[in-house]
Amino acid sequence: MRGLRLDSIIDSVGNTPMIRLRSLEAESGGVPIFLKLEYCNPGGSVKDRAARQMIVDAIEAGELDATKTLIDATSGNTGVAYSLVGAALGHRVHLVMPSNVSQARKDIIKAFGTEITFSDPMEGTDGSIGLVREIVADAPDRFYYPDQYSNPSNPLAHYLGTGAEIIEQVGPRLTHFVTGLGTTGTMMGTTRRLKEYGPHIQCIAVEPREALHGLEGLKHMESSLIPAIFDPGRLDARMHVGTEDGWDMTDRLAAAEGLHIGHSSGANVYAALQLAKSIDEGLIVTIACDRGDRYFAPRKWEAHYEW
Ligand SMILES: Cc1ncc(COP(=O)(O)O)c(C=O)c1O
Repeated sequence: MRGLRLDSIIDSVGNTPMIRLRSLEAESGGVPIFLKLEYCNPGGSVKDRAARQMIVDAIEAGELDATKTLIDATSGNTGVAYSLVGAALGHRVHLVMPSNVSQARKDIIKAFGTEITFSDPMEGTDGSIGLVREIVADAPDRFYYPDQYSNPSNPLAHYLGTGAEIIEQVGPRLTHFVTGLGTTGTMMGTTRRLKEYGPHIQCIAVEPREALHGLEGLKHMESSLIPAIFDPGRLDARMHVGTEDGWDMTDRLAAAEGLHIGHSSGANVYAALQLAKSIDEGLIVTIACDRGDRYFAPRKWEAHYEW
């Protein structure tokens, strides 16, 4: 797809590159860890895949048309993705998110013309979900609510895309797949595809160790609403990562590999490295969900808003 002339920005979603993290191999005992760079998607994150699939499927099913506004709860990346795909396909988008989401995310989303309602930061994304349900219940005819936490098109995007691409990129050498749980779409869809290809492939989930954590995009399942698309029976193991470990790994990869990834991605790589240390041989694939600069405060834009 890359390098070709495309009809729409949404045709550039997917087919992301994968990088071997050579700087970790002294520590991993030679077990290679490959990082799939989902930040190469046009909206800058893994969520472009799910948003495109959900919106295209809803249009095809007649659930989303010109009379309706797409509304959903999102901690940010899905919001950017909905906004980008919605703008590209000519649909209005309204998002609900906790008010403490990074300023950069809010600004990126507004740049696409999307309307935002803020929910209580202390209630996290679960508070946003509750508020969306109230707004939709008040005016059901005005909105199309994809509900990324229960929409099968979310994991389907990863079954058709992420999983198939990983098989194409590393094939039979793959022994382990590691990624964090948010809506769980990436894990559920990719795992289904990988297990069909090689039932021996171990699929390992990453979760924040603490309920109050700084790994934006990941859910602490024990204290969260469980997404309807989540089937824990598909997982071979679950690893818990502390905020500091995830953050330190983002700094380390930026300096050692030129890869500046977000904090959930840092947690993914940290977990993959712990796993690599515990096995004699194999090949691990994990996901860079987004880029680190999404978490910077954008000074130029903030200065502009002050005028
Ligand atoms: C930065 C980041 N990491 C990880 C995830 C988790 O991905 P998924 O929702 O597919 O479980 C998300 C989802 O929003 C995210 O934004």
